Order: sequence, then C-alpha cells, then structure tokens
Amino acid sequence: MTVLTSADSGSIARGAQILREGGLVAFPTETVYGLGADAASAWAVARIYDAKGRPSFNPLIAHVANIEAARREAVLPDAALKLAEAFWPGALTIVAPAAPGGSACELARAGLPSIALRVPDHPVARALISALGRPVAAPSANRSGHVSPVTAAHVAEDLSGRVDMILDGGRTATGLESTIVSFCGARPTLLRPGAVAREKIERVLGAKLAAPIRAEIMAPGMTASHYAPNARLRLEAHEIRAGESALDFGGRLTALAAPGTVVLDLSPAGDLVEAAANLFAYLRELDARGVEKAAVAHIPERGLGEAINDRLRRAAAPGLSQIPAQ
Ligand code: TXA
Ligand code: MG
Repeated sequence: MTVLTSADSGSIARGAQILREGGLVAFPTETVYGLGADAASAWAVARIYDAKGRPSFNPLIAHVANIEAARREAVLPDAALKLAEAFWPGALTIVAPAAPGGSACELARAGLPSIALRVPDHPVARALISALGRPVAAPSANRSGHVSPVTAAHVAEDLSGRVDMILDGGRTATGLESTIVSFCGARPTLLRPGAVAREKIERVLGAKLAAPIRAEIMAPGMTASHYAPNARLRLEAHEIRAGESALDFGGRLTALAAPGTVVLDLSPAGDLVEAAANLFAYLRELDARGVEKAAVAHIPERGLGEAINDRLRRAAAPGLSQIPAQ
C-alpha cells in the first residue's frame, strides 16, 4: 500500500524509517521527484528496478548530504570538486570512479566501476538523506518510458501500489532533470544536458565539456567497463555438466547437483526481486571460489527477470558488451 502524505518533519522521519527497513519512498527534489531507496541495500535497490519496470539495470544517482559524503562514495578529481563547490547543493550530477569502501551497493551502480552523485537542493530531500544518514539511491519517480514527475500526483499515477510512501512537497521548482557530467574519461564529459547550463559548468571548469560517445548516452548500463566474471556461463541450463558449478534460481539445479558441487541459488524461493539483489554479489562469488564454468538456471523473462537475463547474457558473452567505454 502506498501512503501519500504531505512532507513535514513527522512524515520525513517515517520515510527515513521506511528506507532503513528496505522500503521505497518517493520524494521531491528541486529538479523532479525521485524514487528513493537505501543505496546500501541491494534488496531495496532491486525493488526500485522492479517498481520502475525497466528491462535492464540502469545505474542510479546516489543522493548525498554534502561533499564529504560524496567523497566517501567516489574518487573526485580536483575539477569535479570545483564543480561540486560551485553547484552543490543543486541540479548537477557528478559521475566519477567509485571509492573503495563506498556504501552504495553494486546493483545501484548497475555493476559499473563508477557512481553518479548529487547533493539535491530541496529541504525535503535533504532532511530525508540526513535522517537516513546514508546515500539515497533514486532515479526519477516514473515508470520506465514515462516522463519525469514534477508533482506528487504524477508520482502516484505511475507508482501507486508500487512504493511505500510518497512525500508531497508540491511542484518541483525546476521541472527538468539534473545535468550529468562524467569524470571517468580523459576529459570531463557532458552525459546529459539538464537544469544547470553547459556554459555555466564550462565557465567554472575553464574548459569545454567533451561530448559523450554514443554508447554512454544510449545505455550507460551496457558499456564494457562492467564487471565480467572469469567463469564461463552456460545459460538456460537444465543440468549441471561435469566440471561445472551452478548459478541457480528457485532450486531447479540444486536438486540435481552432485555432492560437493558449488551451487549458488539467486533465490531458492524463485523471487525475482531477491534474485536481482543477489546477482552481482553471486557473480563475484563464483570468481572468489575459483569457478571456471557455471551452469545458469532458466530465469523467467518477466518482471525483473528481463533485466537479470540481459545482464547474464552480457556476462556469458563478454563480446556483447565490448562497446568502448571511456
Ligand atoms: O534530477 C535528477 O537527476 C533526478 C532527481 C531525482 O535526482 N534523477 C534522475 O535519475 O533523473 P534518472 O535515473 O532518471 O537518471 C539518471 C541518469 C540515468 O540516465 C543513468 O543512466 C545515469 O544517470 N547514470 C547514473 N549512474 C551513472 C554512471 N555511473 N555512469 C553513467 N551514467 C550514469
Ligand atoms: Mg529518469
């Protein structure tokens, strides 16, 4: 059930508690409404992807309280810090290499080695982030393919029944998403034009922003810099062959495993949200256990299954994701 409530100190505190328990809270920012979850919880982040109904994992912006919090999550070069000082809090999102020991989970980054960060300039967003005390992962609070919401009513139209709470803070001031600048390549790159004009950013940087290569705009979740497991994956497996370990779903392969076989079950109960939450960790776990070949159980192509299968296909055929990422 979705609680739609006006944002005040009481409802924001309840919202933070919902986030702490792994729930979803839509909240206003100065740009558009965000669909928030605890960025540290893969479970909660999986619920975001489920609620949005996206066919692949798109990396999410981690909303943080201030520059210090951003520096715990990302390695920010001097030029990025300059922009942060000039535009935060505000409608600028900075993409930079994820810091070792950052709290955002890998699913929030969609498996990328980089992370998108923003300090929003809206009292409700800021109060929610500080009440949680951790980064809030949030895409725009619309269903996939719909326009970004600028009122709580828009959020409710798209996500009622799919989120736990919608904090109503009125119409957003800007109505346009944040500008996204990446510091992962040789030069600062404008990934998405948005509420902060390019010229303002270039003035602070003292340099022109580079244009992204096509793949970066179309599908940042699909570039080559993803974590790819060493293990060779055989998808849609109905049995475990000699020398294989298994990545299971719903206990399908577990029942067939010889004693001593490594079997990791993404969700013994056959729950696609749980499977999404475990996916990246289990791909790494296969490598940590030195697995060379793994049979992967059939995963239904519904709900989050579509995004999980998309990611597994890329992991199984690394050639598929060899779009150069800069
Ligand atoms: O104004 C905004 O930016 C709003 C409010 C809620 O903050 N958020 C928003 O999020 O528009 P979303 O998910 O709709 O768009 C974020 C964009 C996506 O296109 C995503 O691909 C990109 O940011 N992004 C996130 N992390 C990235 C990364 N590590 N590398 C490249 N792009 C990234
Ligand atoms: Mg969006």
